[in-house]
Amino acid sequence: MDAAHIADDLIDVLFTEEDIHRRLSELAADVERDYEGKDLLIVGVLRGAVMVMADLARSFSRHVEMDWMAVSSYGSGTKSSGVVRILKDLDTDITGRHVLIVEDIIDTGLTLSWLVRNLSSRGPASVEICTLLRKPDALQMSVDVKYVGYDIPNAFVVGYGLDYAERYRNLRCIGTLAPAVYS
Ligand code: XMP
Ligand code: MG
Repeated sequence: MDAAHIADDLIDVLFTEEDIHRRLSELAADVERDYEGKDLLIVGVLRGAVMVMADLARSFSRHVEMDWMAVSSYGSGTKSSGVVRILKDLDTDITGRHVLIVEDIIDTGLTLSWLVRNLSSRGPASVEICTLLRKPDALQMSVDVKYVGYDIPNAFVVGYGLDYAERYRNLRCIGTLAPAVYS
């Protein structure tokens, strides 16, 4: 039987579950303040943002609607392909709605800049972005991100929804994956 623990493949832990929950409740408070008196639809980007959506949404004391999109910009590796495809579209008509896109991580920013353009063309009242993590490369793209949990170094990270080849999503913390795992 394989006794290895999934956390054994990390070279460090960047954020514990407690760190993440604390930061998400701070972001939720900012969102609540900014959207006071307005309806709000949060859109999670599958699959990485599942955990962020679950914990962010439960940090709100207000009503919030949730919907999901699935897009692909990565294969099963660690490099962006630059090609974005919709795998699952929204079920909600966002005309006149305030939309907040919820992401796990912005790396090159390619996925989100494409997604913002796509959703903006549907006539929403507003489209903003909330991401738990942002890498330095994202700063080179013109993506206006309203809510950022943490800026992190340019290494491949996993856990809390983030995967490498569909593994590690169920790790409670976020850590840096040992390069030996993917090289
Ligand atoms: P871009 O480059 O378009 O990519 O901003 C965003 C998507 O790429 C994935 N991604 C990662 N996934 N660890 C991961 O598990 C990482 O360090 C990482 N960097 C980018 C992720 O799916 C994100 O939505
Ligand atoms: Mg993602």
